[in-house]
Amino acid sequence: MRAITYHRYGGPEVLEYGDVPQPVPKPEQVLIEVHAASVNAADYRLMRADPWLARLGNGLFKPKKWPILGSDVAGVVVAVGEKVKRFKVGDAVFGDAFADGRGSFAEYVCVSESMLCAKPTSVSFEEAAAIPLAGITALQGVRDLGKIEQGQSILIQGAGGGVGTFALQIAKALGAHVTAVCGSKSADLAWQFGAERVMNYATEDFTREDRHYDVIIAINGYHPIADYKRCLKPGGRYVMIGGDNRQIFEALLRSRWEFRGSDKSAFALTVNDSSRAQDMQTLHKLLTAGQLKVVIDRTFSLHEAAEAMRYVEQGHVRGKVVLLR
Ligand SMILES: NC(=O)c1ccc[n+]([C@@H]2O[C@H](COP(=O)([O-])OP(=O)(O)OC[C@H]3O[C@@H](n4cnc5c(N)ncnc54)[C@H](OP(=O)(O)O)[C@@H]3O)[C@@H](O)[C@H]2O)c1
Repeated sequence: MRAITYHRYGGPEVLEYGDVPQPVPKPEQVLIEVHAASVNAADYRLMRADPWLARLGNGLFKPKKWPILGSDVAGVVVAVGEKVKRFKVGDAVFGDAFADGRGSFAEYVCVSESMLCAKPTSVSFEEAAAIPLAGITALQGVRDLGKIEQGQSILIQGAGGGVGTFALQIAKALGAHVTAVCGSKSADLAWQFGAERVMNYATEDFTREDRHYDVIIAINGYHPIADYKRCLKPGGRYVMIGGDNRQIFEALLRSRWEFRGSDKSAFALTVNDSSRAQDMQTLHKLLTAGQLKVVIDRTFSLHEAAEAMRYVEQGHVRGKVVLLR
């Protein structure tokens, strides 16, 4: 089969489109003919081994453990392992290949049935493929770490991107009042998804206002942690999702000092792998209930993966970017 592989760490130029053996499903896995796979920040972070710690899992000097990138997938089941109960050949599915070693930037990938959901007929393959990692991240950020409740206020910084568009819709589904911070090209999306207030990050700075929120979700945030804390209501929660080393350091370490003696709290989100399968089911429910819509910024062919990666790395995606077979 054809796949995107990489044999050294680096920029998109390390990606190669070539032939590799087709995987064979284990007893609990299905083999999927990939129709669409979406691109996440996790893919280029792994490709570049940035942060450096990524090498500990994948290989110190060159990538070994995960030779094919891509964790989000949508496609059709073409073979099933002997223990598979929920799916059969011909079923359209979407899901998360992370726990199975990634590999969705390929014509075929094996995924455990627990990580898959049936693709609703109302949703295209490219839309379905856009959901898993960004959706799971948004769900864990808003619901599990943010613990948002009906009627509470939430500010979502980076609301126009992959994680942000899902976070906004999940917050609305949970009954929150949303302030969305995004660029001008994503403002229409934020209004459409029900934000009560939309701020343009180029001209407005929420940290300079005298407004306070129950929850702040900072996706690729860049303000000092003291500013986020000041913008929280008593008992408020700040959730950092992605960012540069300073943001990570502040959320993980400095927050202990900064939030000491306060009833406010700070969290750095790393995806909780143990709830991924259950989270996929929750996203499936939201999707079929019409509470989750997918925005596709651009699609690329599988062989254009390097170009897609370059585009996503610029950091101005409106919704999601998807690779098509
Ligand atoms: N730790 C984890 O387990 C985990 C899991 C998943 C994701 N993440 C992290 O989450 C982060 C976000 O991922 P993503 O997929 O949502 O990114 P993305 O799709 O590339 O979105 C980036 C978005 O940020 C917006 N943006 C850029 N500058 C901004 C600013 N100054 N203020 C507000 N918004 C701004 C862009 O909007 P404009 O186009 O308008 O500029 C764009 O919509 C990544 O760092 C990723 O590593 C972490």
